Amino acid sequence: MDDSGIATPTRIIVFDTTLRDGEQSPGAALNVDEKLEIARVLEAMGVDVIEAGFPISSPGDFVAVQRLSQEIRSCIICGLTRARKGDIESAAEALKGAARPRIHTGLGVSDVHILHKLRTTYERALEMGVEAVRYARQFVDDVQYYTEDAGRARPEYLYRVLAAVIDAGATVVNIPDTTGYTSPEEFGALIRGIVENVPNIDRAVISVHCHNDLGMATANTLAAVRNGARQVEVTVNGIGERAGNASLEEVIMALKTRRDHFGVDVAIDTTRLYPISRLVSNLTGITVQPNKAIIGSNAFAHSSGIHQDGVLKERTTYEIIDPKDVGVPDSAIILSARSGRHGLRHRLEELGYTLDEGQFEKVYRRFLEVADKKKTVETRDLEAIVSDEVEVFFKETFHLDHVQVSCGDHSIPTATVQITGPDGTVHCDADHGTGPVDAVYRAINRVIGEPNELIEFSIEAITEGVDAVGRVTIRIRAHEPVNGAVRTIFSGHAADNDIVVACARAYMFALNKLIAARTDVTKA
Ligand code: KIV
Ligand code: ZN
Repeated sequence: MDDSGIATPTRIIVFDTTLRDGEQSPGAALNVDEKLEIARVLEAMGVDVIEAGFPISSPGDFVAVQRLSQEIRSCIICGLTRARKGDIESAAEALKGAARPRIHTGLGVSDVHILHKLRTTYERALEMGVEAVRYARQFVDDVQYYTEDAGRARPEYLYRVLAAVIDAGATVVNIPDTTGYTSPEEFGALIRGIVENVPNIDRAVISVHCHNDLGMATANTLAAVRNGARQVEVTVNGIGERAGNASLEEVIMALKTRRDHFGVDVAIDTTRLYPISRLVSNLTGITVQPNKAIIGSNAFAHSSGIHQDGVLKERTTYEIIDPKDVGVPDSAIILSARSGRHGLRHRLEELGYTLDEGQFEKVYRRFLEVADKKKTVETRDLEAIVSDEVEVFFKETFHLDHVQVSCGDHSIPTATVQITGPDGTVHCDADHGTGPVDAVYRAINRVIGEPNELIEFSIEAITEGVDAVGRVTIRIRAHEPVNGAVRTIFSGHAADNDIVVACARAYMFALNKLIAARTDVTKA
């Protein structure tokens, strides 16, 4: 209530788990600097809690939680643990420097988790949870408890667990629909049941963590808010284990756009939703489907004549969100080689990029190359150039100087590459393959000799037309485990007017990332 006695809306706490659950997406490994870059944007946009990793799971995760604890000062930094002393000690150690540390511990509550995964009794599982919370409270004041697979648990047992862990000191109780099994009505009712049946629930915040296996993660999260949840766990672009998590942009924009319906506030700078979506997509190598709500490339494209006519007369005829409000850049502004340094700098600033001199010069050089071949450079081309040149958070060991390919329907695809190695030695080599890309990759392998397998390869045209810049995203799997990390998959991306050149650069990107991870744990 405010001073006049009018009910004031509750503010929803936004808990972002892109760097933990999101990073569990197959092949989405992020190194420490990449995590820090994403965390800085999350902090700037006003996210309340950042789940930075699972410290005991790998040296890289430990260092990531440690670095974010030191450098991100206005968010709560959270580290995940199982309900085990070793895990909790590791998280406490990693979180030491945090202004506001939170330990996120817990274990399963459904029959299948207790009987088959944990192979214990309901009573013992409850005791383990209570012991974990008490232990975590010895290190930090803020302890969040997750009841894994709550969506499939018996509500009566769930209520008992929640009451017990709150008594033991949990400040937040997380209700995950771990398998994405529930419907919005069921999940909303589960939260309502918790509000009504857990006697001490007023001493903890109810958080929800929904997976998207049946495409209902966002709807379930919103249903939970309608029924008393006050913290939402989300990831940028909805990435996460299997089909992913509730997506940050969908949940935030649903709560904002339909504030009349949900009756809650969120303190998020929504103009950063599109930029962070691009950043996460570039760094994880997970592309965003064109029809993805809020941030997909078609989210604000009107193709039918009737719709175009309507939007031109009055934007709101077919648009419930102003693209500017989610940071979608105005695509009408285009640049050409004649725009010069000043024009480019101005446009980059408008797009929210702050580049130092060295970065700007690299971007300018690539901009001129593209403008030379394509005449006009659109916003999306520019974003791809910046991402290639600036969003690189590892040392480039090998540099691709030149690539040249010969192919055709009656010739053997052959590629020649020139690569400069770490000691400055210039290597030139050639090979043939089943196609031009295969030939390029074989030629690069002859120089670099890093055993790996190409497991994913995609090409998309960034803009329309035959002169479009092509963007290549690839994933490679290292044959050997890399620096204690569980993951062996590395992504690479590159954009160029010539798609074979883009393929070569993307491969070099992934290889350099892999090599950096071998020598430095924070890059793994
Ligand atoms: O999906 C899940 O249950 C989780 C927990 C660890 C919170 O990710
Ligand atoms: Zn999860």
